[in-house]
Amino acid sequence: MVRFANLGITAKFTIILTLCMIALFVCGGIYGYQRQQKLILMGEVDNARIIARQIVEAREYMAEVLTGEPSRNYNLVPQVVATQIAQRITKNSTYYVRQVSLRFRNPANRPDPYEEEQLKGFNDGATNETYRIVFGPKGEELRYLLPMKAEKSCLECHGSFESAPSFVRQRFPKGHPSYNYHPGEIIGAVSVTIPLTGLYREMSVNLRHDLIIRGGLFLLVLFFMGYMIHRVVINPISLVARSINRVARTGSFSDRIPERGVDEAGQLITAFNDMMAELERKTEQSRESEERYRNFIRMARSAVVTFLDDGKIIISNEKAERLFGKSRQEIIGEDFYRFLEGGDGLKAKIYVSLTAGAEGMIIETREHRVVNASGDRLPFEIALSTSKTGGKTMITAILRDLSAEGSRRI
Ligand code: HEC
Repeated sequence: MVRFANLGITAKFTIILTLCMIALFVCGGIYGYQRQQKLILMGEVDNARIIARQIVEAREYMAEVLTGEPSRNYNLVPQVVATQIAQRITKNSTYYVRQVSLRFRNPANRPDPYEEEQLKGFNDGATNETYRIVFGPKGEELRYLLPMKAEKSCLECHGSFESAPSFVRQRFPKGHPSYNYHPGEIIGAVSVTIPLTGLYREMSVNLRHDLIIRGGLFLLVLFFMGYMIHRVVINPISLVARSINRVARTGSFSDRIPERGVDEAGQLITAFNDMMAELERKTEQSRESEERYRNFIRMARSAVVTFLDDGKIIISNEKAERLFGKSRQEIIGEDFYRFLEGGDGLKAKIYVSLTAGAEGMIIETREHRVVNASGDRLPFEIALSTSKTGGKTMITAILRDLSAEGSRRI
């Protein structure tokens, strides 16, 4: 697996943003779903309440105005009228409405276990509507119940057996539990059932559409941000990185990046170009001074070598080459002290002076024996001067021949 730290900026940015967005989507989705669910539930409870109230009102109205009509037409019994109205209202909907009672006359009005439980609750004094989401045979459904109290007008048929109209007495003989209600007693309840699975399904479809649209918008934003980051940040940085690579490879400081804007990336490019110009100037300068120095030592009458503090020779002139009997290539990199008899003594002496902080010092050492090309040990006077370039100490030695032969040569 690729480690996160090794990824490009765009990839990192995309991953972080995507994770944030997913977290946001999930939280937003859950919250939205719950909110919508609550709204739907409240809306459905409202609907159930309206239907139930309508039934109660219809029944009460019928009970108040009837004057013996049901005895001729059973369809005008208040409960039957109200049920018919409710069935017509909910005909084309998924709503299911009925009226139930613990002491029912019509077996069709027998309460189911849930309704029975609620009716018992009403009998125990809970006189308000009840609603709850329950798992029915077809999934989740909202169950709403509105209790109905026995009014005076109801007692005409639900009071004592003796006072009931004959058509009621004929159908429901003495001792039937549907008699003997007292005013204010709960006779039954309107029960409304609303299946929620369809609504929930619709809601998740909506939510899915919502997520798809939001996801699409997010991808668009991500794409645009990625493009902008590439253009504004990554392109300039990789230009600079490529240039630095080229410098490392070729050693040439002539590279320049086209300047752009004054934002942070633009400042980076300007700074890079300035640095390159300065480096170019510096190297040119040092190349020139080195050139001058080489010309100078070439013309010198004595052998001249420049070496580092460990003795490694880096520059030599022709005279030195001749003295040591080696070509320039052979001398460069050689240890200068090895050409001297007792070179280690001189090395120690120089080391002490250098660590003491002497810089640009001139050390004159008389009478040194230099081993020449033919292995002779010749007396030489050595003048040393130190200098520091680029943090490195360089020591230049001028070797003057003290032998008679040497003096003659000069
Ligand atoms: C004219 C007589 C009459 C009046 C007045 C009357 N009812 Fe009834 N009620 C009946 C009859 C008959 C039934 C049975 C209907 C059927 O067969 O579906 C019934 C059924 C019911 C039921 C359904 C449960 C069951 O027993 O099958 C409820 C609840 C109910 N009545 C409540 C009331 C209330 C509340 C009132 C007063 C607002 C009222 N009734 C007034 C005659 C009456």
